[in-house]
Amino acid sequence: MSRDTGDNLDRNHSTNLPMASVMDAYLSRRSVIRGSLGAAIAMIAGTGLTGCLDSEPVSPQPPSPQPNQPKLALGFQSIAGSRTDACVVAAGYSAYVLAPWGTPLNGKASPWRADGSNTSVDQANAMGMHHDGMHFFPINGSSQDGLLAINFEYIDTAALHPNGPTVDASGKRPAEEVRKEINAHGAGVVRLKKINGRWQVVENDPLNRRFTTASRMELTGPMRGTSHVKTKYSADGIHCRGTNNNCGNGYTPWGTYLTCEENWPGIFVNRGLRPDDQRRIGVGTANGQYQWESAAGDSTEVDDEFARFDVTAKGAHASEDYRNEASTFGYIVEIDPYNSDTLATKRTALGRFRHEGCCPSLPVVGKPLVWYMGDDSNNEYLYKWVSAALWDAADATPADRLKTGAKYLDRGNLYVARFDADGTGAWLPLDVNTPTTAGSTLGALYGDLAGIILNTRGAGDAVGATPMDRPEWTAVNPLNGDAYLTLTNNSVRTPEKVDAANPRGPNRHGHIIRWHDSDDHQSFTWDIFVFGANATGTADINRSGLSELNQFASPDGMSFDSRGVLWFETDNSEPTLTGYTNDQLLAVIPTELINANGKQIPIDAQNQSALRRFFVGPNGCEVTGITFTPDNKTLFINIQHPENWPYSDMATDAAPSGTKVRPRASTVVIQRDDGGQIGTI
Ligand code: FEO
Ligand code: CA
Ligand code: CA
Ligand code: CA
Repeated sequence: MSRDTGDNLDRNHSTNLPMASVMDAYLSRRSVIRGSLGAAIAMIAGTGLTGCLDSEPVSPQPPSPQPNQPKLALGFQSIAGSRTDACVVAAGYSAYVLAPWGTPLNGKASPWRADGSNTSVDQANAMGMHHDGMHFFPINGSSQDGLLAINFEYIDTAALHPNGPTVDASGKRPAEEVRKEINAHGAGVVRLKKINGRWQVVENDPLNRRFTTASRMELTGPMRGTSHVKTKYSADGIHCRGTNNNCGNGYTPWGTYLTCEENWPGIFVNRGLRPDDQRRIGVGTANGQYQWESAAGDSTEVDDEFARFDVTAKGAHASEDYRNEASTFGYIVEIDPYNSDTLATKRTALGRFRHEGCCPSLPVVGKPLVWYMGDDSNNEYLYKWVSAALWDAADATPADRLKTGAKYLDRGNLYVARFDADGTGAWLPLDVNTPTTAGSTLGALYGDLAGIILNTRGAGDAVGATPMDRPEWTAVNPLNGDAYLTLTNNSVRTPEKVDAANPRGPNRHGHIIRWHDSDDHQSFTWDIFVFGANATGTADINRSGLSELNQFASPDGMSFDSRGVLWFETDNSEPTLTGYTNDQLLAVIPTELINANGKQIPIDAQNQSALRRFFVGPNGCEVTGITFTPDNKTLFINIQHPENWPYSDMATDAAPSGTKVRPRASTVVIQRDDGGQIGTI
């Protein structure tokens, strides 16, 4: 299984043509943002930095730096690229393996066996496969004790089973294999403690739990109880089963985890007439990706556990078959890591697409809460959610976290982004009254809000959103509220279809775009922060002047830490980079990149030392998932789909030449040898 199996095909057949080529518009733009939100955020952050890109300061007199506050600066030297079966980390740091695939979470799971013979029951009670997005939730604010909520995106069937996946003579997948695959997907919560300076899994902790593609869940928001989600499993359309292809993540200010369903359409098949939403999002017509549906009718099948992946209409009514099963996927799913009695809850108001990440903006008392979300396929869109409820600081420590989730995530407005060539943009609301570019309304097209949510991509098409170069993760700068989006690449953007926000066609290396929202959430100003490139690329490719020590392609996972350092990870298969290095983690402090007027500027040929390579993963892997302890002294990242790793507990050990190990995705813990904060001086 490679990173290329995710199915990021272009299914956008809308006429949302990019604007005329204005490739350098962002370079000459001088936008101005003023507003109370930026000022409020700057005050909250206590930094005096402005919430602007290359804009005027929001406060007339920039406060002088605090005398005792050390300047924020990177404290490591950029490392060279690496192409080995080991991790490499900057000098002065160590990296070790934590909670790889198959690590038992409780006594129902046998220890992981290197021959692939663990059972489906083991798998349901152990770490899943292909670790991806994650977030650290401290216990009582501790940086020594906490819960890691983590995604298990997809599976490597060759490694999951003793000798890879099998089918019987009649073409059916064995039930036990299918159950193991279903249970290897999803998400989990695992208790971690730092003992004698080293993080360990607390086996049998009562808060440990798994969410698989079979776990019972609840639907809330506009889809709940509608005809779109009624199935034989839930005739009232309130519950559903499982979460799948959980890629990026988010979190909330009230202590819950958000897991994002990305390439889930592949697990279904519709051999009948596909409705518009299934065609637009890519439900297949021949077989499911793993042919789970082929195990239907097995003598051990319980509650249509396999039949449900065939979404062909078969009965007289939706409550007699699984025609709507795929409509219960594609959402942001909220998990309360601190209460194992709760159901995972699908917050359908945040749209239905191939969700990548869901980063919150900065909570400001008395203002709505905001989350930014990418839809990762070629030429798909950037979205945001704005809550109807205004943030109440008392909600940071609620008695019932999922009730608080309902308050901020079930009622509000979903928007899709249009990037204009002049460096501004519009957030287009996806509600019944929104006019379409064809002179109708979304209400006329899709009936009601639930119809719009079911067809979120189609609604984005209809209102004229900007097709982007595979929107992956978002991140928000804690110092000023600027939002960033990784656009990983776009092989099908032709030179004729470039626009200001996606100016290379094809875009083989990806880029990171950033914006700052207006106070009323209706508009924003944007620029491109950095272009991925090989250092020896042409001027048109290497637009940010990258050097050997920071060249990268296909940015994907991304997060700010609480100090304002931006960290981003790569999921690259572009040959101009794979010959030099495996996937990597880089760091930069955007607020330190300013011009003579104190305005933020992008990465360019003059400020190369600001963007540094911190970590490189083993052969075949993608580096993804990122979270810190509150003290910033532990960094957790994930190694997904390695080829021949891990060899030992030390992430930096390689298997001896000629030795093959069964590969295991794993979390990697990075600590500084002197015990200090990660990445900074
Ligand atoms: Fe799962 Fe878009 O990467
Ligand atoms: Ca991937
Ligand atoms: Ca990703
Ligand atoms: Ca990716």
